[in-house]
Amino acid sequence: MRYLTFALAKGRLARKTLEIFEKIGITCEEMKDPDTRKLIFVNEELRLRFFLAKASDVPTYVEYGAADIGVVGKDTILEEGRNLFEVMDMGFGKCRMCVCGPESARELLKKNEIIRVASKYPHIAKDYFNNKKNQTVEIIKLNGSVELAPIVGLSEVIVDIVETGTTLRENGLDVLEEICPLSARMVVNQVSLRMEHERIHKLLTDLNGVLNQ
Ligand code: PRP
Repeated sequence: MRYLTFALAKGRLARKTLEIFEKIGITCEEMKDPDTRKLIFVNEELRLRFFLAKASDVPTYVEYGAADIGVVGKDTILEEGRNLFEVMDMGFGKCRMCVCGPESARELLKKNEIIRVASKYPHIAKDYFNNKKNQTVEIIKLNGSVELAPIVGLSEVIVDIVETGTTLRENGLDVLEEICPLSARMVVNQVSLRMEHERIHKLLTDLNGVLNQ
C-alpha cells in the first residue's frame, strides 16, 4: 500500500488537526516530540506520512501531489487559488475576513472612491473590491501587523482576519464590512481523490463522526 501524505499548516492548525486525528485512531508519536527538527513523520502501520509546512505552501504541495491531503485555513486557500478539492470544514480556527479601518473610513467605502487597501491577502482584497463591490482600489501588500497601516496613514482600510476583535479594539479600528467566514479546511489533490478514493472516503467518514459529536 502506498503512503498517504498529509501536509499540515504548522502551528495551532497542525496541533488541532492531530488532536482530531487521534480521536479516529490516527496517531504519529514521533511528531509529538517538541524538540524534534525532523520535517516528515511516518506511521508505518497505517502507511501514512505527515509533514509540517508554512500555511501558504500547503495548497502548493497538495496541488502538485507532493501531499495527497492538506489541512489549512480557508483564507490561505482563497489567497493561493490553487486547483484542489476542498472536501471538509474542520470546524476549528473559526474567524472572519473583513474590511477594517477607522469609523471615519466607512463613508469612503460607500462613495466608490479610489482608496488604498493594505493586506496580507492581496488576491482576496482585489477580488472583493473589484468583483463584488466594483470599486477600483490600490492594494498594498503587507506581511503582518496590518492594523498599523490605517493608523500611520499607509492606507485608508485593511483587509484582514478578525478572530476575537481584540487587535482592532486595542488600536481604535472597527470591522467596516465582512467579506467571508473562515475556518480550517481539508483539501485533497485532484488525482489522489480518484486514486485513493476508498481510503480518503473512510477518513472523511471517520472525521465526520467525531466532528459532528
Ligand atoms: C491575526 C490577524 C489579526 C489578528 C486578529 O494576526 O492578522 O491581526 O490575528 O485576531 P483578533 O481579532 O483575535 O485580535 P496574527 O496574530 O496572525 O499576526 P500578524 O499580525 O503577523 O498577521
